[in-house]
This record gives sequence, structure tokens and C-alpha cells, in this order.
Amino acid sequence: MTRERVASLNDLTPGEAVQVRVGGELVALARQANGDVHAVADLCTHAAVSLSEGMVEDCTIECWLHGSAFDLRTGKPTALPAITPVDVYAVSVEGDDVYVDTDVIVNAETAKEN
Ligand code: FES
Repeated sequence: MTRERVASLNDLTPGEAVQVRVGGELVALARQANGDVHAVADLCTHAAVSLSEGMVEDCTIECWLHGSAFDLRTGKPTALPAITPVDVYAVSVEGDDVYVDTDVIVNAETAKEN
């Protein structure tokens, strides 16, 4: 199990993402305007660009380079040019502590099938 405390909820700005490391994985931790927190692999599937540098809007994160967007709940691309989903990791919030578990994921391949 790779579950780690990665942030304080109060340090996450709604509508923004930050990069955190869990085990050896780089993770984009995004807080929606409504307060929900999501974690996805911090690598755009179109090219090797950090998604945590992109914009968070509603349930999506948008890559700053070419505008691909990904659903933060499923990892599925919602805007081209990316066509491959990103991995989604389990997030839990306990009080002010935010945890990410990189062993529990909505796998990109699973997301592609559904
Ligand atoms: S690198 Fe992300 S859309 Fe091209």
C-alpha cells in the first residue's frame, strides 16, 4: 500500500492543482471550486507535460500546452488532442489531512473501456 499524507486541505486553493510525490509517483492534486479533491498522474498523455501546471475547472484539469482536458474522476480525456486517459488515484480527507493512495487507481486502461 502506498498511501501517504500529501497536503493540508487548507493549503489547497480551490480551482488549482499542485504537484505532490507519493512513493515514486508524481501526482497532480487538484481541488475543485466546490472543495472536492482529486488526484491524477501528473503527466499529460499527449506529451510529457505536468498537468499540475494546468487549470482546474469544474471536474476537469486542462493541460497548459495544447489544451487537452481530463475528467478528474475518470481520467478520460474530454478535449483533444489527448486521446489516452490518465490514471486516477484514491484520495481521502481526514480532518485537514489529505491522503493519496497510488495503489488504488482508476486505471487508464479501465477508463478507456468504460
Ligand atoms: S502536452 Fe498536454 S495537450 Fe499537448
